[in-house]
Amino acid sequence: MVGLIAAPQKNNRSIESVLLDEWYPVARSSEIQPGTARSVQLFETDLVLWRGENTGVVAWLDRCPHRSVKLSPGTVEADTLVCPYHGLAFDAQGQCVKVPAHPNYPPPKQACTTTFPVLERYGVIFVSLGDPPVDVVPFAEWDDPDYRTYLSGGHRFRCSGLRAIENFLDVAHLPFVHAGILGVPEQPVIEDYEVQTIDTGIYMRNIQVWQPDPDGTGKDGLATYDYWTLRPLMVALKKERASGQTMVLLYCVAPISEEECVGWMWGALNYAHHIPEADLVAFQDTVILQDVANLESHNPKRLPLEPQMEFHLPSDRASLAYRKWLKQSGVTYGTVR
Ligand code: FES
Ligand code: FE
Repeated sequence: MVGLIAAPQKNNRSIESVLLDEWYPVARSSEIQPGTARSVQLFETDLVLWRGENTGVVAWLDRCPHRSVKLSPGTVEADTLVCPYHGLAFDAQGQCVKVPAHPNYPPPKQACTTTFPVLERYGVIFVSLGDPPVDVVPFAEWDDPDYRTYLSGGHRFRCSGLRAIENFLDVAHLPFVHAGILGVPEQPVIEDYEVQTIDTGIYMRNIQVWQPDPDGTGKDGLATYDYWTLRPLMVALKKERASGQTMVLLYCVAPISEEECVGWMWGALNYAHHIPEADLVAFQDTVILQDVANLESHNPKRLPLEPQMEFHLPSDRASLAYRKWLKQSGVTYGTVR
């Protein structure tokens, strides 16, 4: 992050680097066309995203360093973002290059915006408010021609992003919340499964859940999943069928605040090439929206990491391991404390 004039950073000092120095999805690439600007929020910070005809996408604090108004209502002109208040123009590096009231007066060097790292992956714009040491997590299937891919999101939830990730790792809710799609209420049993510790958190192997049509043959049976964490707020799932058909989901949640978040889900399938992308997205949206009522009724909305704050069942082994890993990693933002 650069910016010579101190900007009012909200709470960043209280956000641990394990969360802050990460990439988070904030908008679809298609939402920020050349010539447009838009505001988004991340970690209680208002950001402006914009793109010129000859610039990549740009992410700044949504604040003009002159009189501190929002820049997002401004206009994109000649690869600059022009503030709506006094018309100062800032180039893609955030430097003021034009002061309309004083055309012969060189803009002061300290007249620059607060900029943030930004990049585009998998059809989405990712921003970091910190200093991410590595790129966005690789998603090999996204670029594999054997796979067809789709994107669902962002879906806004009024709960901690950690609650949303834990819900993704929770298989025992499938027969009830996603009855008739991902589970069957009459077949709710979750057999014991194994949770391993890996470099990026936890790995749950061979989790089985009874589904109405796990193989696309119209017959009910057991579906088998592997789940693993990649980052505190990014997880993946793989479902492999005996036929070799494979589905991979990548799920990342961007915190708006400690009690609000936006979830983004990418899917990759090496089958179902005949199904229109819109139908796959509609299916995924349906499943995700079925989770909203429970996600938003958590009390507290933040995730408790101390085991005694809720009680646990054998099928909660993944949740417990996730909470333990978060605690060991020093995550506090979005937790009960
Ligand atoms: Fe932005 Fe004055 S407040 S140009
Ligand atoms: Fe769910």
